[in-house]
Amino acid sequence: MPVYAPHKIILFGEHAVVYGYPAVSATVDLFSKITLIPNKAGNIYSSFVSKTLNYLGINDVIVKVETDVPSGSGLGTSSMIIAGILYHERNYDKKQLAKEAFEIEYSVQGMGSPIDTTTIVAGGYVMTNGNLGIPLWEIEKNDKRWRFSNVPAKEIDVIIVYTGPKGSTREQVAKVRKFYDRGRFARDVMEEIGTITNEGVKQLMTGNLEKLGELMNENHSQLKIFGISTEIIEKVVNIGREYGYGSKLTGAGGGGAVIIIPKDKDKIIKKLKELNLIYFVTSTTNVGIFRRP
Ligand code: PMV
Repeated sequence: MPVYAPHKIILFGEHAVVYGYPAVSATVDLFSKITLIPNKAGNIYSSFVSKTLNYLGINDVIVKVETDVPSGSGLGTSSMIIAGILYHERNYDKKQLAKEAFEIEYSVQGMGSPIDTTTIVAGGYVMTNGNLGIPLWEIEKNDKRWRFSNVPAKEIDVIIVYTGPKGSTREQVAKVRKFYDRGRFARDVMEEIGTITNEGVKQLMTGNLEKLGELMNENHSQLKIFGISTEIIEKVVNIGREYGYGSKLTGAGGGGAVIIIPKDKDKIIKKLKELNLIYFVTSTTNVGIFRRP
């Protein structure tokens, strides 16, 4: 049966989450359809598709992924495909699916966090390492542990803008670590991101878009200090600041996607068109991965 998997965005706390601070991610109303079609053996797959199929002991299928979102946008495509293939073939409960999808993704990348896999599987607003929301599950790997909860909040409109292929997460994380290891200032910034994230979750829960947007702008300015923004990201963020409630890069940075909480949608779209950018006018959703004939 075809699997439908949503893309994900990080609303607050990327990078800071690497140092134990909280983060908030969410699924968005942009779904990819993943279907496994029987075929003769000997097909060529991308690394994470082949890892997932090996894991399941299958080699005689074609994996068809129908999506509008460019891969490498930092919106969780690889996690979606891994979880999608697993869910297509086996009757998982959600926790087990999130865990196994993370293990496979980790084995391909040799690093990473289970934020993407958990968010896509659970759906809705997902807080990592926070004290709010309804506990979901914990995932451990080597000496690290991530605690996840589902934050009850209303869906909000989001415009997601693709600014080009994102920098490799590994490189972006290493870049930020250099700053972090250098001294007090970077640590203070991380601490501030943690505070903003906790405040951001509260504003999500109360639905205060003005405040939420302001906090996103602040979070973006903090991420910029670490050198992970780009010229085009800045252009888009400025459009979001001018005509939206707020805006920030989402995910590892160095390219990838920017999220805007829109106020004047038409104006934002006009400006994005002038820049010839790919964008998606969508919203957050409470729906996680699902199967449907
Ligand atoms: O891979 P992305 O672009 O979704 O970003 C992952 C979030 C980071 O905090 C930058 C890295 C991590 O492993 O948590």
